[in-house]
Amino acid sequence: SRVVKLAVVPGDGIGPEVIAEAVKVLDAATAHSDVTFERSHFALGAGRYLDTGDTLTDDDLDALRSHDAILLGAVGGVPGDPRLKDANIERGLLLRLRFEFDQYVNLRPAKLYPGSTGPLADPGEIDFVVVREGTEGAYVGNGGSIRRGTPHEIANETSVNTAFGVERVVRYAFELAERRRRSLTLVHKTNVLVHAGGIWKRIVDQVAAEHPDVAVDYLHVDAATIFLVTNPGRFDVIVTDNLFGDILTDLAGAVTGGIGLAASGSINPDGVLPSTFEPVHGSAPDIAGQQKADPTAAILSVSLLLDHLGLREAADRITHAVEEDIAARGATARTTTQIGDAIVARLQA
Ligand code: NAD
Ligand code: IPM
Ligand code: MN
Repeated sequence: SRVVKLAVVPGDGIGPEVIAEAVKVLDAATAHSDVTFERSHFALGAGRYLDTGDTLTDDDLDALRSHDAILLGAVGGVPGDPRLKDANIERGLLLRLRFEFDQYVNLRPAKLYPGSTGPLADPGEIDFVVVREGTEGAYVGNGGSIRRGTPHEIANETSVNTAFGVERVVRYAFELAERRRRSLTLVHKTNVLVHAGGIWKRIVDQVAAEHPDVAVDYLHVDAATIFLVTNPGRFDVIVTDNLFGDILTDLAGAVTGGIGLAASGSINPDGVLPSTFEPVHGSAPDIAGQQKADPTAAILSVSLLLDHLGLREAADRITHAVEEDIAARGATARTTTQIGDAIVARLQA
């Protein structure tokens, strides 16, 4: 029987609440399989920083590296909390994991499940995947400021786009499109960001020549936000850079029934380094500790995790149980635990 070493990082705010449910669902979905999950718990996040002053140590990184995958809830405190100013949990923990483990595919499916109540009156079918680049762009930290605090301050944040980095994620997106409805949309802002946009456009055109059966189109990011609301059904695979992908996937979450349903994987497709599976949402300090968070995004992230590990059947069982749960959702509010329990019950039925 196979043993999977799973690192669990519940994190901050609603993170521990949604991860408790995700772990229950993982156990239920794999109970009768020949795979054993050996879980280790990592207390990382704003809470850890406030206790110890550490964000992510080299020892933490080494310990995480030896795992097959990471399941993460959410990290980060209340935006603007002065005690966390120096910690920069987002950069020092979440982005550091993505960079160190070279998780260059940030995979974010957006699907409208029958029964979920999105904000659109007549959404039609929505089923697309955003392939967001995960290790480059404006996120790399290639910036700085001078004359800080003076009227002459200059603050820069450079978007880094390498041919190597763009090509590998674009190739992944085309291969995904081949397995889906064979349509790929590049989203960028080539009319203004001529250098960064230029390299993306050229590489997409080059790789497109190897995939003549994939229909390729291009949208400027501002126009893309229009179509995500007015005609989301037109999208199959969207490929885009780190920052545009971040913004588009919160919008995609909202359009497909709420950010509480949006799952993601920060994936290293080469498979040697661990990939992280995490909801798109954050630690939601406004509802933390109140059992108000929807754990579905975390639960669907477990499905992505299982799929990544090649455990397709268990992955599909979770998606199916979630689909049934969403279809049966009424107007009555349920607690985080009640939603998790209902999905577990469907898996055991
Ligand atoms: P957020 O996603 O935490 O919250 C935005 C809104 O969505 C809030 O109103 C929140 O209540 C709601 N929401 C989020 N998840 C929900 C769920 N599962 N069920 C129901 N409602 C939910 O974004 P934010 O407020 O901008 O960020 C809060 C903190 O989280 C910040 O410190 C931020 O940096 C961090 N963050 C972390 C991650 C991550 O760890 N992957 C992702 C995004 C933001
Ligand atoms: C996400 C989050 C992160 C991002 C932040 C917290 C660094 O918003 O996973 O979408 O911008 O990638
Ligand atoms: Mn985000």
